Amino acid sequence: MSVLKAAITGVAASVPDNIMTNHDLEKLVDTNDEWITSRTGIKQRHILNTPGKGTSDLSLPAVLELLEKTNTDPSEVDMLICGTVTGDFVFPDTANQIAHKAGIKNAFCYDINAACSGFLYALTTAAKFIETGSVKKAIVVGADKMSSIVDYTDRTTCVIFGDGAGAVLLEPNEEGHGLHDFIFKGDGSGAEYLYQKSGGSISPSTHTTVDNREHFVSQNGRPVFKAAVNGMTSTVKEVLERNNLSKEDIDWLVPHQANLRIINSVADMLDFPIEKVMQTIENYGNTTAGTLPICLNEYEKTLKKGDKIMLTAFGGGFTWGSTYLTWAY
Ligand code: UT7
Repeated sequence: MSVLKAAITGVAASVPDNIMTNHDLEKLVDTNDEWITSRTGIKQRHILNTPGKGTSDLSLPAVLELLEKTNTDPSEVDMLICGTVTGDFVFPDTANQIAHKAGIKNAFCYDINAACSGFLYALTTAAKFIETGSVKKAIVVGADKMSSIVDYTDRTTCVIFGDGAGAVLLEPNEEGHGLHDFIFKGDGSGAEYLYQKSGGSISPSTHTTVDNREHFVSQNGRPVFKAAVNGMTSTVKEVLERNNLSKEDIDWLVPHQANLRIINSVADMLDFPIEKVMQTIENYGNTTAGTLPICLNEYEKTLKKGDKIMLTAFGGGFTWGSTYLTWAY
């Protein structure tokens, strides 16, 4: 029996026009371009600084471009999932806001909160709906307005993050292309290393929590770095092995863009040629759930039908995993 595959049939991305360079950050905190470039590989990030605009607004241009590129009428979209940790509101979800703003009226929509793994989790979840035949067209968004939760007095985090969004269309594929396999993992004991301490149900926001800057991202970078390298490397290896693939079979490795040193370490540990590793971190920084679709969008023109692609991500939670797919167009 042939199994229906869910394939990516289009990709688009959007970032705000406003750019914050390393030199701009030198004016805010005690840092310098040399440190940021050598320790992270980041030169600039895009920041949404329009008052009253949130993650749905960041995502909207990507979704509209995606609909246009794929000749999809908004009424045809059956589901829309958004991976994000910076939703427009604590509730309701951002996916419904994106759909509303894009004129998508016949879809069920919800968010997935898996931090930097959010897009990968959302993509793989949507694929399962397509594979069962219950959904024909799914839009998967990865988007974060990280500037809304970054403390621009904390040099250990503010240099890393940027704002950005990407979106893909998933459709059934009868040629055997699309998502083939995934391995996802989670470990809640990692929460304290990368989180937003207050504003949730354990510690609702108060004057005191705001005074203590607990509504911003808090990160202990070194353990996160180590867990990210190990988590992405090990799940890529596992997915390769159980699909009888060698690293030579893979045309593109698409790692979450958190730090160029993390990307290089993963490639080193896999002994994977760096020229086949997608990299966009220099221009966008870490856009959390946005990094993977932004990568796919940047490299779209170099991709060929049948290309074997391994996506891998690691994020707060901890959440991590790898998804193997073949490109369908
Ligand atoms: O997206 C998913 C999850 N996030 C990640 O994957 C991020 C993982 N972690 C990292 O990318 C890195 O740990 C960072 C980029 C956050 C930090 O790099 P690091 O090489 O681990 O630096 P460090 O925290 O060990 O700090 C080294 C030094 C410290 O100074 P001392 O104590 O040696 O005097 C820091 O205070 O660098 C200092 N430092 C800075 N100096 C200039 C930290 N941030 C900065 C800065 N500019 N922005």
